[in-house]
Amino acid sequence: MEVAPLIQIKNLRKYFSYKGKTLRAVDNISFDVYPQETLGLVGESGCGKTALARALMRLYEPTSGDIIFKGESILSYKGKAIKSLRHDMQYIFQDPYASLNPRMTAGEIIAEPLNIHNVLNSSERQTRVLELLELVGLRSGYASRFPHEFSGGQRQRIGIARALALNPRLIVCDEPIAALDVSIQAQIVNLLKYLQEEMGLTYLFISHDLAMVKYLSTRVAVMYLGHLMELAPSQDLYENPLHPYTQGLLSAIPIPDPQIEKKRTQILLTGEVPSPINPPKGCVFCTRCPMAEKICFEKRPHIREISPGHQAACHLIP
Ligand SMILES: Nc1ncnc2c1ncn2[C@@H]1O[C@H](COP(=O)(O)OP(=O)(O)O)[C@@H](O)[C@H]1O
Ligand SMILES: [Mg+2]
Repeated sequence: MEVAPLIQIKNLRKYFSYKGKTLRAVDNISFDVYPQETLGLVGESGCGKTALARALMRLYEPTSGDIIFKGESILSYKGKAIKSLRHDMQYIFQDPYASLNPRMTAGEIIAEPLNIHNVLNSSERQTRVLELLELVGLRSGYASRFPHEFSGGQRQRIGIARALALNPRLIVCDEPIAALDVSIQAQIVNLLKYLQEEMGLTYLFISHDLAMVKYLSTRVAVMYLGHLMELAPSQDLYENPLHPYTQGLLSAIPIPDPQIEKKRTQILLTGEVPSPINPPKGCVFCTRCPMAEKICFEKRPHIREISPGHQAACHLIP
């Protein structure tokens, strides 16, 4: 890609201290996000997707590495500068029930970022709230209602409106549809797509639902036990997954094209993700990989470019 990245993540680590031990939630991950793309981030629960997203937005203090945004390292940012990042980066949470203050009206919730950042005067804020409600497909009269008066899908729309209030460039969508009814999921996904086109947004879209990620994403990054296992343009990843872990995740979803279905390697993912307190010594996936050889148990593979734009971390890929 010729375009300059919007954000560059370099050797990012986020370790937690857990019962006196080190838990490696994110362990040396690097990738770029390009303007107006949707980068899908997938992996089983507990693989570190949320920790990565929160570290990159400085909602968590990264342990080490660097994050370059608009040509500047944002890891050196303190207090006010971190706060100012919220103008550019916003977060949509998984759970629209838990993420909205039950004592605030929808209007107050959506206006909150404008108040915190002291943007616009009070009548302009009112106008902006109505504009945002309309943008996410809610009636202006809803401004005075409380979260419990809304359905799950409507609450997620309020969360989206709040995230848009400051006109950010990057939005991290952390499993934004996982808690919603299947019938509502497509509506929210279509809304996110519409808003992206309308406002030129860049998304980091986190999900364990590979089918949904495929529909939305320009590129897809696959994470396992704190590590990046594969990253490729969406179509490339789905038609030609190189990492056995990605093949395992994909085996669980049917492919409508019988040609591809016949060719692909079926891998059944068994067992559980090991603890990030005690990750396997070699490749972190070796304990569950049906193809693992001696080297996989001994040496950690580096992620490398296998074909243009397609990276994977596996010793067995020629
Ligand atoms: N605040 C925290 N303190 C300690 N451990 C945490 C904390 N947040 C997440 N973890 C651990 O980090 C790992 C990655 O978690 P998370 O990023 O939430 O995964 P995912 O979003 O992929 O499901 C898990 O083992 C989780 O238990
Ligand atoms: Mg998560």
